Amino acid sequence: MKTYIGADLGTSSIKLSLVNDKGTILNEVSKDYPLYQQGLNSEQNPLDWWKQFNLALDELLEKQDKESLQAISFSGQMHGLVMLDKDDNVIRPCILWNDGRSEKETKYLNEEIGRDVLSELTGNIAYAGFTAPKLLWVKNNEPKNFKKIDKIMLPKDYLVYRLTGICASDYSDASGTLYLDVKNKVWSEKMLQILGISKEKLPKLVESNDVVGLVNEEFAKLHNIPKIKVVMGAGDNAASAVGMGVIRDGEINISLGTSGTIFIPTDEFLLPKENGLHSFANTTGKYHLMGCILTAASARKWWLENILDSKDYSGSDKESENANTDNLYFLPYLSGERSPHNDVNAKGAFIGLTHSTTRAAMSKAIIEGVAFALRDCLEIAKEGGRKFKKATICGGGSNSDVWVQIMSDILNLPIYKGSGSGSYGAALLAMSGAESRSLEDICDSVIEYGKVFNPNPESVKYYENKYRVFTKLYPALKNL
Ligand code: XUL
Repeated sequence: MKTYIGADLGTSSIKLSLVNDKGTILNEVSKDYPLYQQGLNSEQNPLDWWKQFNLALDELLEKQDKESLQAISFSGQMHGLVMLDKDDNVIRPCILWNDGRSEKETKYLNEEIGRDVLSELTGNIAYAGFTAPKLLWVKNNEPKNFKKIDKIMLPKDYLVYRLTGICASDYSDASGTLYLDVKNKVWSEKMLQILGISKEKLPKLVESNDVVGLVNEEFAKLHNIPKIKVVMGAGDNAASAVGMGVIRDGEINISLGTSGTIFIPTDEFLLPKENGLHSFANTTGKYHLMGCILTAASARKWWLENILDSKDYSGSDKESENANTDNLYFLPYLSGERSPHNDVNAKGAFIGLTHSTTRAAMSKAIIEGVAFALRDCLEIAKEGGRKFKKATICGGGSNSDVWVQIMSDILNLPIYKGSGSGSYGAALLAMSGAESRSLEDICDSVIEYGKVFNPNPESVKYYENKYRVFTKLYPALKNL
């Protein structure tokens, strides 16, 4: 038997999966680390990632056969700005994907450089969460730190660098920097000029299933493992899509994690109208479209844990299932919004409260609100007559059957549950790289789906009417 490790560097924790050559998960371990959020700022310390990754690895392998290990690969939270000085010290905490401090720089890029120019150079426009506006923010606000930069990398690339000494990144993750020419898969020289960064400071670009190198001697000794291969990995949404077997044109994977995404592989490079969705490279060597809402399962967590002081997720589902949410809406913009509004100042809201509104109805409005926000992204993907027959769903939020049914009714698509995740997808990338097997071949032989949720025609009609109202709420509140 051969085994592979997939590590998902998430926003709240790192999760490691140990998977065998049949695709069976042998063990999984997660380790948390702090998230520092204040106002629009959202940061993490890369040294915390490294420390928890090492602890998780020991726990993962404690009772396992280490000699069968072949390779490790990564799935990583996207867009984060990790900067190292010439001695490889981390210059400042990583500025994360859901950080909104670079509003001014985002505006400068979109309005003064111009959306058309950005789209021509990169296939995308600027969002505060992307890496380029954050680099400009550091340049404008922390010039001493900007001067110290020797290497710039994305979160998972930092772990690969510490393992191999090679500064590399893959095309799916690099797509979210806004300095990759996504269509041609090269760093955009013009964007680098705009940002004042030289190409030498950036990682070399490789495919997600390319072998970057071997783990270093010291690391292998520390964990008492062979010098296994390090396979590059992917941005977390692209890795999750592999873990769910969603790698072909016309398929959709929905992820309900801290963020919510709709991930659509495409054979060709596509530019949606007004860059309403991200146009990124995929793990397969092709491309994908993606809509990303900044608050998904995190809205429910906020509501239950912070407001209701409860961790009873299934109890909340039970009481909400048949609750009446007529005329009750929730806007899930607790971290501002990325797709499609691109507004760091968007805010969350309950609308339509009365004396008869119940807790159960408010809990249900939260999950409906997240589903409506994802529908906004799907509507853009459907422009030009593109049709979708079904979707798969993953992420913590997909554990709720009530939520998945509502997603199915609001998106009007059959939705298949699967057990795939970023770390599982990363383990499959490790297998693909180490054994030189195509992702199609691996996914077709190992992925299985569970329960299917079909849209209920009456609920589809009901939610269609509600969605028409939902689309009017953000524009009405925006200026307030
Ligand atoms: C995608 C995005 C998020 C993070 C979450 O564009 O910003 O999904 O990758 O980890």
